[in-house]
Formats: sequence, C-alpha cells, structure tokens
Amino acid sequence: MVVLGIGIDMVKTEKFSSAIKKWGDAFLSRVFEEKELSGIPEGKMYYQRLAARFAAKEAVIKAVSKSFPLALKDIHVLNRSNGAPYCMFKDNMDLEIFLSITHIEDYAVACAVAQKKT
Ligand SMILES: CC(C)(COP(=O)(O)OP(=O)(O)OC[C@H]1O[C@@H](n2cnc3c(N)ncnc32)[C@H](O)[C@@H]1OP(=O)(O)O)[C@@H](O)C(=O)NCCC(=O)NCCS
Repeated sequence: MVVLGIGIDMVKTEKFSSAIKKWGDAFLSRVFEEKELSGIPEGKMYYQRLAARFAAKEAVIKAVSKSFPLALKDIHVLNRSNGAPYCMFKDNMDLEIFLSITHIEDYAVACAVAQKKT
C-alpha cells in the first residue's frame, strides 16, 4: 500500500464548545452526521470528544490533501467496540485511514495516516 500523507490537528475545547453553544444544531449538523453524534452522549468530556472528532476530520483532510480535497462531512469518525476510533467515508474511497485521537480538558488532538488501498 502507498502512503499518501499524514495529518495532525489540535482544537481548543473552549473555542469549539463556544461555537456549539452559540449555533447549536446548525453548527453540529454542518460538521457531523447523526451516526457520529449518537456515539457521543452529553456528559463527561462531551465537548472534548466532539472537538477531537473535528480535529480528526481536519487531520484526515490534511493527510489526503496532496491527492484530492475532502469536506468535513465526507469523513465520518466512529469508535470500534474496544474504544479505538476509525474513519469511514461518505462515498466509497480506495483509502485506508489510520487514526488516533486524544483529549484533555482544554485541548483535543488527532493524527491521521492515509494509505491508498491498491
Ligand atoms: C486505550 C488507552 C491507550 C487510551 O488512553 P487514554 O490516555 O485513556 O486516552 P486519551 O484520553 O489520550 O484518548 C482517548 C481516546 O483514545 C481512543 N481510544 C480508546 N480506546 C482505544 C484503543 N483501544 N485503541 C486506540 N485508541 C483508543 C479513543 O478515541 C478515545 O477518545 P474517545 O473516547 O473520545 O473516542 C488506554 O486506555 C490504555 O488501555 N492504556 C494501556 C495502559 C494502561 O492500562 N494504563 C492504565 C493503567 S496505568
């Protein structure tokens, strides 16, 4: 498999939570699909987890940017049953993404490696 690129992104939680509080569902639905939101219950680390998924999308966009452009909602960030995050695409793509995310109170960070499958 061919590595297309890597991407990293960091989001300040407070900036992200302010946008959600200000714009609500209109903001969330511009960034996330319902299936992504339904995996993040409101409660502990809610804004951090959402900010991390935003960072993950930005990291994926960077990782593939030399090959083609992607929009935030082309990318879906979900969790496996063991808690590990993974990435799917709205349309079928010949891509495999290796994704890692982390968050603390104030910041969320994500890193992505994009590989072409064939
Ligand atoms: C999986 C593990 C590495 C996550 O570490 P962590 O410091 O709790 O995680 P962070 O706060 O940095 O990041 C959280 C993100 O890690 C990701 N994650 C969770 N489980 C994961 C796994 N099995 N593999 C990869 N990523 C994982 C998730 O995306 C999670 O964010 P989300 O819940 O919003 O999706 C950790 O729980 C672990 O198993 N560590 C092994 C060592 C250990 O047992 N330490 C504790 C005793 S000292």
